[in-house]
Amino acid sequence: MAANTVITVDGPSGAGKGTLSYLLARKTGFHLLDSGALYRLVALASLQANADLQDQPAIEKIAETLNVVFDTSSEPVRVMLNSQDATLAIREEKTGMTASIVAAYPGVRAALLTRQRAFALAPGLIADGRDMGTCVFPNADLKFFLTASAEARAERRYRQLIAKGESVDKAALVKDIQERDERDSNRSVSPLKPAADAIFIDSTEMTIDEVLNLMLSKAQPLISRSAQ
Ligand code: DC
Repeated sequence: MAANTVITVDGPSGAGKGTLSYLLARKTGFHLLDSGALYRLVALASLQANADLQDQPAIEKIAETLNVVFDTSSEPVRVMLNSQDATLAIREEKTGMTASIVAAYPGVRAALLTRQRAFALAPGLIADGRDMGTCVFPNADLKFFLTASAEARAERRYRQLIAKGESVDKAALVKDIQERDERDSNRSVSPLKPAADAIFIDSTEMTIDEVLNLMLSKAQPLISRSAQ
């Protein structure tokens, strides 16, 4: 298990984990693992290969042989899949929905485990996902579980998409989020659930700054320890 400091941030889609994990990483100087990006990459590679999404062995093979490079020298981090820039494609709604399907396959989760643990480098890691505190880093130094109502999460996603100039149907977004929650929470391997020792934060009525400050106050002893 990782000897370096690990802080896990788990929770459902749209709870603000991505933004908060990024901000925490910036504030602490820790590395950042966006584990959802790995599942999205498996999804994208499967779509690009025209694989049958119900063909579990074929999808698991794609996860095992995934050719990915994270270029952390660029901001935001550039993601290369088979030497092609996949940074934008992995963020599309279709890729997200497909990621939720392939993430239920045990062989896909097993294939990504070692890759995820390899991110735990000095001085520390902020690990963003669904099962960071329960499965990938069960001995993490600090665990957060971040959530918000489905409506609040759909509203945030709606504003993000509008800002990007995309046309979206808000009711469809709420339905998508509920569907994805349902699938992520009810799969038999690593379902989305808080670790027993996680700090639970419901951000429905909180601003990003309020959540960040709360997380930083809990993380402060670890940040000071890692800096020594
Ligand atoms: O956080 P995200 O939306 O980028 O994640 C995409 C999908 O990947 C999501 O439906 C659930 C899955 N996922 C997972 O099963 N385990 C993780 N640690 C991260 C993401």
